Amino acid sequence: MRITILGAGGFLGRKLAARLAADGALGGRPIERLVLFDLAFPPAPEARFPIEHLSGDLAELPEVAIPDGTDVIFHLAAVVSAAAEADYELGMRVNLRGTERVIALCRRLSRPPRVIFTSSIASFSGGQNAVLGDDARQVPANSYGAEKAASELLLQNASRLSFLDAVNLRLPTVIVRPGRPNQAASSFVSAIIREPLLGLPAELPVSEDFAVWVASPRTVVEWLLHAAMLDSGSMGLDRGVNPPGLSVSVAQMLAALEAARPGARALVRRVDDARIGAIVATWPAAFVAERARRLGFAEHEPLRDVVRDFIAEDLAPTRAEQGLAVATEGGAAGG
Ligand SMILES: NC(=O)c1ccc[n+]([C@@H]2O[C@H](COP(=O)([O-])OP(=O)(O)OC[C@H]3O[C@@H](n4cnc5c(N)ncnc54)[C@H](O)[C@@H]3O)[C@@H](O)[C@H]2O)c1
Repeated sequence: MRITILGAGGFLGRKLAARLAADGALGGRPIERLVLFDLAFPPAPEARFPIEHLSGDLAELPEVAIPDGTDVIFHLAAVVSAAAEADYELGMRVNLRGTERVIALCRRLSRPPRVIFTSSIASFSGGQNAVLGDDARQVPANSYGAEKAASELLLQNASRLSFLDAVNLRLPTVIVRPGRPNQAASSFVSAIIREPLLGLPAELPVSEDFAVWVASPRTVVEWLLHAAMLDSGSMGLDRGVNPPGLSVSVAQMLAALEAARPGARALVRRVDDARIGAIVATWPAAFVAERARRLGFAEHEPLRDVVRDFIAEDLAPTRAEQGLAVATEGGAAGG
């Protein structure tokens, strides 16, 4: 198996690279070579197979990033929501023209590679009362979502033309994201769990009955691996998949936080934010996801496991990154 990860230095790209390195195989076939590509040199995990790491701009993706013989490309590189909205040109260049560049490089290969594209639920709208079916139209309410939807169409057409063989995964909001809160409108969804676990305050810009369609990084990696190996012949022309995430309310997230670390939810403070409120009001809160189940995508684990895995895997590195004191096992937030 020869694999390339574009956007390999990001949150999900690092998790995916680590998993491939640990497994040493994909779909039962040993990995012969892995190319990691990002704006800055992405970190290369320890592996039994050779790893090449490259830096550059996706819009000018070098041919060496997708050498002939590549079997699978995970296309994760993107300018994410708030940044693409704030800088229209940047979003279009990376999110749309970057995808066109991936297609152009795939065209010259002697055999069409599987391309797993991480699209987003931001390509939909509908709001809190929407439960979107598998054939729901993508009507994005932001530039990032529009660029994702447009990329999906181009990848679908490139699949029809046998330039490549795409699976477009419309990922839910992935929680719990490590690091610091950022400008993304979705930032609070991770922050209300992560920050209190670090002993830090967090602001909640929506009411507790607000519901979000989420997935854990662990399950997203499972979906990415499944998408790499599934029989795309059973998908026909339609290469889009809404994988089975979890629809959870803020109240449920706060309860899971409190169960994991008693006292922690007291660090979450409700602060009205009309700007974020207006953006998140367009997000669909739930999907039917029947097609994904038929295609064999794994069901999601319960929310309490998502919080437990974050504590086990990402909390200590996040603490260290931020120079915070080491928490006492099971201690109250603020430790
Ligand atoms: N994390 C989520 O909640 C979520 C939800 C839905 C979809 N997605 C999609 O999943 C993918 C991965 O998300 P993530 O959370 O790891 O994001 P991330 O921002 O952590 O990673 C994206 C990576 O793309 C790289 N990148 C940006 N511009 C680039 C360019 N011009 N050239 C090369 N690389 C460039 C960034 O440096 C970064 O490492 C993205 O495509 C994102 O749109 C993520």
